Amino acid sequence: MSQQKPIKKAVFPVAGLGTRFLPATKAIPKELLPIVDRPLIQYAVDEAREAGIEQIIFVTGRGKTAIVEHFDVAFELEATMKERGKDMSVLEPTRATPGDIITVRQQVPLGLGHAIWCARAIVGDEPFAILLPDELMVGEPGCMKQMVEAYNEVGGNLISVLEVPQKEVSSYGVIAPGASVSDTLTEVAGLVEKPPVAEAPSNKIISGRYILQPEVMRTLENQGKGAGGEIQLTDAMAKMIGNQPFHAVTFAGSRYDCGSKTGFVEATLALALQREDMGEEVRAIAERLLAK
Ligand code: UTP
Repeated sequence: MSQQKPIKKAVFPVAGLGTRFLPATKAIPKELLPIVDRPLIQYAVDEAREAGIEQIIFVTGRGKTAIVEHFDVAFELEATMKERGKDMSVLEPTRATPGDIITVRQQVPLGLGHAIWCARAIVGDEPFAILLPDELMVGEPGCMKQMVEAYNEVGGNLISVLEVPQKEVSSYGVIAPGASVSDTLTEVAGLVEKPPVAEAPSNKIISGRYILQPEVMRTLENQGKGAGGEIQLTDAMAKMIGNQPFHAVTFAGSRYDCGSKTGFVEATLALALQREDMGEEVRAIAERLLAK
């Protein structure tokens, strides 16, 4: 039996401006852009629920209220669908248990670390998960479930990592790996946000999933600006190394960086190809386009 405090809360920072997707994200939050027919935020919430998370905390900002609407009951829509005898099962994952979704506001997007800190009162004194919805993680089990399983073994703080070509590391948070615990679990000796390629301690990047101890909130409290002039979560986590256990889990599955346009297109294609209801048709379309 695990001795760890269970992970019941997850923070979803969704207050970013999504400038890479303008003009699409002028009026629509990036997190509601769909991969095939499910918005990005839905994939992340489903992944968290699969891992046993009960409380969903959205850190929102201006223009992001549609995200909360997505998880509400759409009374007129449901009444009309019922009247017309339509299958309503697609709406099932959008139904939140009353009281399970909490929002806090990040008034100014000062960075990911600042967004997480905005949730401190709700997180309280419990370890908690963080999921960045624009990183789409596809696996069985899902990434957060894999992390919770590792957390039950080692406790402390955990991040999911994956390997990228060395030349790409400067866009990400990078780990300096410590002792390896198993094939998929390693200690983290250091962390650095967006290092120059030549100075990167490895090609293992942080991939948008975290399980952190509540002490990170106190570290963030006094955190100055880091890379890109933003308050970086990576900098706060780096300060915790040495004081608390810190591990990285290599995710067994596929990850799509849906914060970038090419990653978004890749995710759309990959997931459409995997679908039973359309995979074959999409494959034929892709082949036809490639033959041109
Ligand atoms: P990104 O670095 O992808 O930034 O944030 P962004 O604003 O969403 O997108 P671009 O770069 O302008 O296109 C990673 C995650 O952190 C959240 C974002 O919503 C996203 O989920 N975030 C970022 C915040 O909630 N607040 C911030 O101040 C910054």
